Amino acid sequence: MAALPALFGLLMAVVVTGQNLDITPREAVRRVGDDLTVLCKVPYPIDACRMTVGTTSYRLIPNNQEEEIVYAGQGLQHGECGAHIKHIKEEWNGNISCTLPPQTGQIEVIGTMRLLVAKAPANPQLISPPQPAFREGDGFMAQCIVPNGRPAAKITWYLDEVQLLAGIHQPVITSEPGSDLKTISQNVSRTLAPEDNGQKLVCRAEHEALDGPREAARQLVVHYPPKRLESGPITIFGLKLGGEGRLNVTIRANPAPTTEWTVGDLVLIPPRSNEDGSITALEPLHLGGGFYNVTLVLARVAKEDVERTYYLRVTNDLGREEFAVRLSTMDEPAGVELETGAIVGIVIAVLILLIAIILVVFAKATGRWFFAGSRGRDHTKSSGESTPAGDVLLESGTLPSRTSDTESAAGQRSRLSALSARVRAVLPRGRDRVQATEPIPEVEDKALAEEKKGVVYAELALGDQNAEKPPPPSTEYAEIVYTDQPAPVKEAKE
Ligand SMILES: *[C@@H]1O[C@H](CO)[C@@H](O)[C@H](O)[C@H]1NC(C)=O
Ligand SMILES: *[C@@H]1O[C@H](CO)[C@@H](O)[C@H](O)[C@H]1NC(C)=O
Ligand SMILES: *[C@@H]1O[C@H](CO)[C@@H](O)[C@H](O)[C@H]1NC(C)=O
Ligand SMILES: *[C@@H]1O[C@H](CO)[C@@H](O)[C@H](O)[C@H]1NC(C)=O
Repeated sequence: MAALPALFGLLMAVVVTGQNLDITPREAVRRVGDDLTVLCKVPYPIDACRMTVGTTSYRLIPNNQEEEIVYAGQGLQHGECGAHIKHIKEEWNGNISCTLPPQTGQIEVIGTMRLLVAKAPANPQLISPPQPAFREGDGFMAQCIVPNGRPAAKITWYLDEVQLLAGIHQPVITSEPGSDLKTISQNVSRTLAPEDNGQKLVCRAEHEALDGPREAARQLVVHYPPKRLESGPITIFGLKLGGEGRLNVTIRANPAPTTEWTVGDLVLIPPRSNEDGSITALEPLHLGGGFYNVTLVLARVAKEDVERTYYLRVTNDLGREEFAVRLSTMDEPAGVELETGAIVGIVIAVLILLIAIILVVFAKATGRWFFAGSRGRDHTKSSGESTPAGDVLLESGTLPSRTSDTESAAGQRSRLSALSARVRAVLPRGRDRVQATEPIPEVEDKALAEEKKGVVYAELALGDQNAEKPPPPSTEYAEIVYTDQPAPVKEAKE
């Protein structure tokens, strides 16, 4: 019968804990010897503060700061019960709880947090397939295990110095029953590429209880057959007749390849020269990363050397590749590698082309070439005396013949006016485009009425000149039109 009230009391305590007592932090990871402050707070004044650390319950008094575990907080009157633990001990791993007097009633309120006293894990173990070498394209999987850390260690993967992010699996954390030590394991998988050869796969373990990361690593060896770097036949440019010729071919292979040159009937396996020493095959030169320069040296390049084809065969355990090499005395043609200047040039050319296309479309849309008019105008403008010549120049672009042009000239006049009207219609006044295609006479009238500037006079002048036959020496007229022009000097001379 006495058990029932006790149970009820426990239930009450849980409820009160949930509602009123605030404990921070709820969880902490510390190394042995670190310090820790735990603070419990209730929204009413208290007159006692107890903290259970490990198996011992400490009564904390604000004035007493001498012990290993001392009071922390703003004072009991503020409802604060905190503990400053100066040096964490291994055996304190587990719960820390504070016990406070209740606001009403007799049942104390309890708050609990979890302290993890960090314990360093064992060294990481990298488990990977035992074979010493792999082939390009092989799937590769490795597993890293970091046992018995508290809390679990953190694993990161590196390929040499570069962190691996692709192919990383979810980590799996396990622990022995009844132990709070955690073992973490993580897998990484990867399709091996030539670039992976010689790289170090590193599993790095980090942990709160370790001063620095610990690593487990293995070297990757990836084999692949000889590969060509460029497709098609190879041409060595820039050779000089009579000078030394070097035929370089760069290839990639692992393990190291053997090479064999065939020149006509001659077969050379380096390091070898032919009898008279005019052709020498050099040993493949390792450039690093599996790249090799394979070189054939011609002591003096003769005309027949340029005419024939040299065959190179490159072999290793995994395969072979054959190359045909030709020589040229010309400089290497400017290939795809463009200088900045060339790129700028191309961009400008494209822009000009675009503008040209736009102008053509514009001209087609409006039905007229509007350069013709303006060029004629410019011409009249620039040379006071030259109207006859100017006319010829002007008309050569637009009119079929000089002699039967009264109609055409008149037509041109109106077309020019119409065009300028259309341009105006399209431009700043933002009129509807439909208006720009109105019948010509109407637009022309409108345009003439509205126009006040020299442009229109020029158009009229142009038309009048063409209409008159033979055209008068129209220098005066030109002067009237272009009053802002300085009086033509040439005219005075005439
Ligand atoms: C520690 O506290 C948690 C609740 O916060 C409880 O579940 C756990 O049983 C406690 N552990 C010990 C050893 O008292
Ligand atoms: C990790 O790899 C090991 C063998 O290397 C395998 O047994 C295990 O199932 C793998 N785990 C995951 C999560 O892929
Ligand atoms: C061939 O390699 C040599 C160095 O071994 C270098 O000086 C030469 O420029 C290379 N020739 C060509 C055509 O790349
Ligand atoms: C290797 O050959 C390439 C041309 O294929 C050349 O540019 C380079 O200079 C050569 N390097 C050496 C070290 O010979």
